[in-house]
Amino acid sequence: MNNHDPQMRPVIRQLDEAAANRIAAGEVVERPASAVKELVENALDAGAARVDIAIAKGGKALIRVSDDGCGMAAQDLPLALARHATSKIDGSDLLDIRSFGFRGEALPSLGAVGRLSITSRAAGHDGAQIAVAGGRIGPVKPAAGNRGTMVELRDLFFATPARLKFLRSDRAETQAVAEAVRRLAMAEPYVAFTLTDEDEGRVLFRADAEQGELFGALQTRLARVMGRDFIDNALPIDATRDGITLTGFAALPTYSRGAAVAQHLYVNGRPVRDKLLTGALRAGYMDVLASGRHPAAVLFLTCDPHQVDVNVHPAKAEVRFREPGIARGLVVSALRHALAGAGHRASTTVAAAALGAARPETAPPRPYQAGHAAVRSSAPAIAASLAFQAPGFAEAPAARVEPAPQDDGATDAPLGAARAQLHQNWIVAQTADGIVIVDQHAAHERLVYERLKAQRDANGIATQALLIPEIVELSEADAHRILAIADELAALGLVIEPFGGGAVAVREVPALLQRLNAAALIRDILDDLADQGASDRLRARVDAVLSSMACHGSIRSGRRMTADEMNALLREMERVPKSGQCNHGRPTWIELKLADIERLFGR
Ligand SMILES: Nc1ncnc2c1ncn2[C@@H]1O[C@H](COP(=O)(O)OP(=O)(O)OP(=O)(O)O)[C@@H](O)[C@H]1O
Ligand SMILES: [Mg+2]
Repeated sequence: MNNHDPQMRPVIRQLDEAAANRIAAGEVVERPASAVKELVENALDAGAARVDIAIAKGGKALIRVSDDGCGMAAQDLPLALARHATSKIDGSDLLDIRSFGFRGEALPSLGAVGRLSITSRAAGHDGAQIAVAGGRIGPVKPAAGNRGTMVELRDLFFATPARLKFLRSDRAETQAVAEAVRRLAMAEPYVAFTLTDEDEGRVLFRADAEQGELFGALQTRLARVMGRDFIDNALPIDATRDGITLTGFAALPTYSRGAAVAQHLYVNGRPVRDKLLTGALRAGYMDVLASGRHPAAVLFLTCDPHQVDVNVHPAKAEVRFREPGIARGLVVSALRHALAGAGHRASTTVAAAALGAARPETAPPRPYQAGHAAVRSSAPAIAASLAFQAPGFAEAPAARVEPAPQDDGATDAPLGAARAQLHQNWIVAQTADGIVIVDQHAAHERLVYERLKAQRDANGIATQALLIPEIVELSEADAHRILAIADELAALGLVIEPFGGGAVAVREVPALLQRLNAAALIRDILDDLADQGASDRLRARVDAVLSSMACHGSIRSGRRMTADEMNALLREMERVPKSGQCNHGRPTWIELKLADIERLFGR
């Protein structure tokens, strides 16, 4: 438009409803999976007990969602297609939202970008049908059908060819649809779901309705959707703080993934991709996972709807907490607590995979209730394991059996009695009903790391004063924000002071972090604060240094150990939380039950 000529005034027009709907559709319906999400959410809001979804060509040619919910009467149908028309809120309190939908936008948006037809019947009414294509609404006609609703969307984006071009292959779109259905199915264990590919006549996903109490139903549903393996390797989470409840399952660190693909977070039943919550999830696993590994978890946050604003994103994928610190703190502490409580338990998949047969029992007996206090009260074991670091280990033969006293009672301990050291790295121990194999280097590294952290927590972090304070120039707002957490940073060894204007002076740094680029660290911490409202970066860096110190300070593979030393290591592992995995998230030990070994031999 030419705006140079002051005589040529641009004209302001009121766009017609069809154009407005197409624009809204741009936000709400990005690809077939988002259309499926909207339609399934409508079915769930209608109280459906079963939802059947069919697609063709990745959803580009056809999406059909049928439900057995409350249905609509003939006179409702034109309203359902009108913009900002909804039965779910009355508009008086946008912070009291208890349904998936509330914007009254999904159906008109879908009708603006595809050929949409709705067939529905409510109890006590005749069935009816309405169709809309490219924004033009047809008449309501009588139709047959059971109670419930069937929505069919054909030729998605035929009216907006530009969007059509951005779609991926049929296979990729099918996968995205399946993922959207799985995410919704995980939170609704009492609803039955099927997803069928009409091109191939194949059922892509099916989950029958679960019965019984919620936690059990949820567990079975998650096993169905995420795989049995996930549940077998997951810790139940159940914690409440200040009116917010967190439930669900978080996998052991040894069950981590290479990408953040197995993380499903829900707020009041709604699947969300929320930076605050994914950041909290990461923080909860901070020192039990190597960077580059991602935890697997399905977590449900439940709170009064007034505590959380869901009206911040057209597709409702993001939410805003009224008190983000509480939500974040709850997730972090619940995960840390559960992981520490898992004691020395490691993933069962390793042994199970080796055996080619899943063992029904997942957790070894846990007589020692592990907690952080245990780290501090394990002084004798620490002394014993420190002895491993003493020089003077003899050159070891390739494999060696240490004759251990046969009746030492230790076989009753969870990790058993050490019987042999093989290939200078594997401790083989006998338990009451099986054998345990320990990776001595990985195990000891973890113990040294936990010990270093305990020392840090007990005595604080040693700091080193800078001869010349480093001045970091920031905006005034940023300087204000970083100075607001100066006490927390000081506790971690980073001492900062205001230096006038937007500048901050760094006076002391953690002695562990020589050659620290304080300016870069402070900017990263500020980014975290902006992103997540909190930062674990400094702690993570200190922990990373402790972790590599532990790696260098621990017994290497190739060291010969006496039976007493091996047993002391096993006992300390039982006492120390998180000893089930090394600092990089690998298991430190596995157990083979006698029954499994017998099965291997076909007995
Ligand atoms: N499967 C269904 N069963 C019964 N009623 C439905 C169904 N789908 C839609 N409706 C009715 O049509 C209305 C409009 O649906 P639409 O999805 O456009 O808006 P919404 O769900 O209210 O809000 P949002 O745009 O946030 O999804 C709903 O409020 C509901 O009353
Ligand atoms: Mg809706």
